[in-house]
Amino acid sequence: MEEKKHNQKYRVGIVTLSDKGFKGEREDLSGPKIKSLLPTEKYEVVSYCILPDDQKAIEKELCRLADEQCALILTTGGTGFSKRDVTPEATLAVADRNAPGIAEAIRAYSLTITPRAMLSRGASVIRKQTLIVNLPGSPKAVEESLTYILDSLSHGLDILLGTAFECARK
Ligand code: MTE
Repeated sequence: MEEKKHNQKYRVGIVTLSDKGFKGEREDLSGPKIKSLLPTEKYEVVSYCILPDDQKAIEKELCRLADEQCALILTTGGTGFSKRDVTPEATLAVADRNAPGIAEAIRAYSLTITPRAMLSRGASVIRKQTLIVNLPGSPKAVEESLTYILDSLSHGLDILLGTAFECARK
């Protein structure tokens, strides 16, 4: 089957979750790091914000970005074990469908770099036509995780948005 051409860029929302970042006590390097890693010919970052680790506030922002037709929402931070780390819970709460392979791939690859990768509880889900992926909080972890999934991510988005017909069965 022939593949439909996808000429439009994917709209992307970036959300950094950090109490300290939100209060201006720590510079957010991870949100800008995500942006710098996304190829501009394929992705357009239409929204970037820093939120505190507050589940309801995170859910609200994820829904807003999905409603604003973001094909992809990338979060960073709040995936660990601290009491305030609630990004996966907020993400799962707004999900229509689970897409666990992406989070599994991030952890599997990251474990080849550091055993502490097992401490990220990040999720990956679909809400309507939007893919939401939780990345860990440090710029280093963002770079390692995002670089690894980037290629498959765009194929997944093509399928989600109906611009590719599943996988070529040649
Ligand atoms: N994943 C990668 N690729 N590289 C890392 O350095 N750090 C881990 C993990 N995932 C790490 C990683 C650590 S130390 C923690 S505590 C968890 O991500 C959770 O991070 P977060 O709470 O900032 O999201």
